Amino acid sequence: MITALDPIEDLKAFLRFPSISTQLEHAPDMAECAEWLREKLSSLGLGATVYPTPGSPVVVARNSSHDPTKRTVLIYGHYDVQPPDPLDGWKTPPFEPRVENGRIYARGAADNKGQILAHILGVAETLSEQGSLPVNVLFLIEGEEEIGSPHLAEFLHAHCAELRCDLAAISDTAMAPGNSPALTYALRGIAAMELLVHGPARDLHSGLFGGAVANPATVVARLLATLHDAKGRVLIPGFYDAVRPLADWERDAAAALEKAAGGDAAIKELAGVSELSGETGFSTIERIGARPTAEVNGIGGGYQGAGTKTVLPKEAFAKLTFRLVADQDPAVILKAAEQYLRSQTPPGVRLEVITGHAGAPYQSDPNCPDGLAARKALSEAFGAEPLLLRDGGSIPILATLKEILGVDSYLLGLANPDSQIHSPDENMCVDNFLGGIRMSRILLEELGKLSS
Ligand code: BES
Ligand code: MN
Repeated sequence: MITALDPIEDLKAFLRFPSISTQLEHAPDMAECAEWLREKLSSLGLGATVYPTPGSPVVVARNSSHDPTKRTVLIYGHYDVQPPDPLDGWKTPPFEPRVENGRIYARGAADNKGQILAHILGVAETLSEQGSLPVNVLFLIEGEEEIGSPHLAEFLHAHCAELRCDLAAISDTAMAPGNSPALTYALRGIAAMELLVHGPARDLHSGLFGGAVANPATVVARLLATLHDAKGRVLIPGFYDAVRPLADWERDAAAALEKAAGGDAAIKELAGVSELSGETGFSTIERIGARPTAEVNGIGGGYQGAGTKTVLPKEAFAKLTFRLVADQDPAVILKAAEQYLRSQTPPGVRLEVITGHAGAPYQSDPNCPDGLAARKALSEAFGAEPLLLRDGGSIPILATLKEILGVDSYLLGLANPDSQIHSPDENMCVDNFLGGIRMSRILLEELGKLSS
């Protein structure tokens, strides 16, 4: 039996699971959310399985009658979400979805539950109307994207026969500024690292020892300050060696995007800042999508409580991520960064470097037949020619899909640019969600035309 569809109610139900992959206490919620997906996919007429992994389960679904003469599209998404913190930034609780002014608010609304559900419902609508699909469809929905997909490569290796496909279609990115449709043809990679600076054996009196003992918090600050020069360039030797220069058509696409976006003014507005900043010599759009960066995500050490405490802390830390572009290799960058930071560390402290998750950058061709099919689906569903976009976020699994399954990924972002993903009051425009369902249906048709 195929149940009647109520897209908004389905989305609300999906959003109620606090499927926060980075917090172990939410493991039961991850399992329940995966099971909800399995039931939903089965009720829509797809064969669905939940596979356990050493971390959160993976959900795989397929249309029941795979036709070997048709092409197969893998639709990837993730049901895990980022922590909702800071909680006091939310107008209403993050896991109690609410619709207001044409938007649905909840953690995961845009990243990624609303986007993957649009594809699920698009496939379901086509199936229920036509009884079959113009292409074979495989859904791969994981629960660890927000922590760097630590178990997905192993899963793909183990299931590569079952997951054989011709391309991947992914909606886990955003539309262009102004909420115009866009095909994202490149995403940055990522490499994470944590610095711990160890100083004295215990927290010391800053009057009795200050001036005599290196202060780990000061050392962390100095180390971080060595990462960039005054022009915003990263100073790690070799950092830019592998960066592929921008082709002329890419600079044109970036300029077109900038114009459509309303220039820097619109980006300032989105970010809530009075001035933009970054590497000189590149436009803002280029700096976000096509240039690598070094970012400090967190910094700490010493007394954090109310009032003052005259202490010289025993240790301090910083958390960093590098965003990388084709053809930078995360492992090479992490090694170069560690070497450089060690060379900058003064005597009297010990630097500990812990490397975290890493994912390679990804770039595909928006002008090949599948890229053109994706553009047509976006333009018909949203009534405007899609812009071509290099986005700054990362989906590390894209490079892995290419490596293990041999397929290219086409990124049909559905999130409104002001969706506030990873921030309080994350939201998705209801029209983007419903348009996404239409887009998914047209995409199946267009890809079907490329069969044989
Ligand atoms: N969906 C985002 C990535 C994204 C969003 C790309 C908007 C382009 C536009 C994804 O879920 C995400 O946030 N990824 C993390 C990856 C990391 C935790 C390994 C990121 O980019 O920080
Ligand atoms: Mn995402």
